[in-house]
Amino acid sequence: MSRLSGKIAIITGAASGIGKAMARRFAAEGAAVLASDVDEARLMRVVDGIVESGGAATAQVCDISERASAEGLVAAALSAHGRLDILCNNAGVLDNLTPLADCTDALWRTVMGVNLDGPFFACRAAIPAMIAAGGGAIVNTASAAGVAGGRGGAAYTASKHALVGMTRNVAWFYGPSGIRCNAIAPGAIATPMAGRLVPNPDGFARMRDYFSTVPPMGKPDAVADAALFLASDEGRYVSGAVLSVDGGWLSY
Ligand SMILES: NC(=O)c1ccc[n+]([C@@H]2O[C@H](COP(=O)([O-])OP(=O)(O)OC[C@H]3O[C@@H](n4cnc5c(N)ncnc54)[C@H](O)[C@@H]3O)[C@@H](O)[C@H]2O)c1
Repeated sequence: MSRLSGKIAIITGAASGIGKAMARRFAAEGAAVLASDVDEARLMRVVDGIVESGGAATAQVCDISERASAEGLVAAALSAHGRLDILCNNAGVLDNLTPLADCTDALWRTVMGVNLDGPFFACRAAIPAMIAAGGGAIVNTASAAGVAGGRGGAAYTASKHALVGMTRNVAWFYGPSGIRCNAIAPGAIATPMAGRLVPNPDGFARMRDYFSTVPPMGKPDAVADAALFLASDEGRYVSGAVLSVDGGWLSY
């Protein structure tokens, strides 16, 4: 039997990188995936690919930083399936390694909006539905920058630390209602995100000191496998955890 058979799963940021790998992996394990992203064209390609290979997936275009859009995503899952079991808050944006003194209001708001407001809006809408379904699993894609201070700029680091805090609080508060909530802290994963980085010169110069310590880059499917473990029954006694998927980067 497949590990997510009969489960309804929302995955944000599913048009690319880690979210795309999660959507494919979860569908291959029998979940009905509601794949979501702000990038409609690439999202449709991912969903079409899953359906062509025999999986169950539908697309919902959504800017997760907008409350109504995030709430609409959960409403779409409930309307299509009548329940929600898994929420993967994976959409995220970088801050170009910008140190705090250089961080504009706009950059701060954008990063917080996607990386923190989005998971907040989605969790707030999803939790009552999960409680109604008898429980659920939330997997938040944080980052090594969610547990260490030197893996990103100020906004990105603050947003991912806050996401880790939110993860632990949700795990603590809603555990008795049958909801498990965990975070993954990926290290350097080969996705288009890194290619979009236009590094701030000061932030880049400081980060460069660490580059020799970065292990060989991981692939998105390594993170998707960790998410599958946390979302499935195999992770049934795991909640409030921050699982590093970083080739050991945080250990040295
Ligand atoms: N790649 C890495 O090295 C790495 C390391 C640590 C953490 N992460 C985290 O992993 C997650 C996925 O990143 P990735 O590397 O796959 O990047 P990616 O850029 O390949 O994918 C991110 C996806 O999020 C979508 N997105 C951006 N803003 C959105 C919004 N407002 N609403 C909905 N979707 C939006 C993008 O369109 C894109 O499809 C992010 O949260 C990122 O912070 C990545």
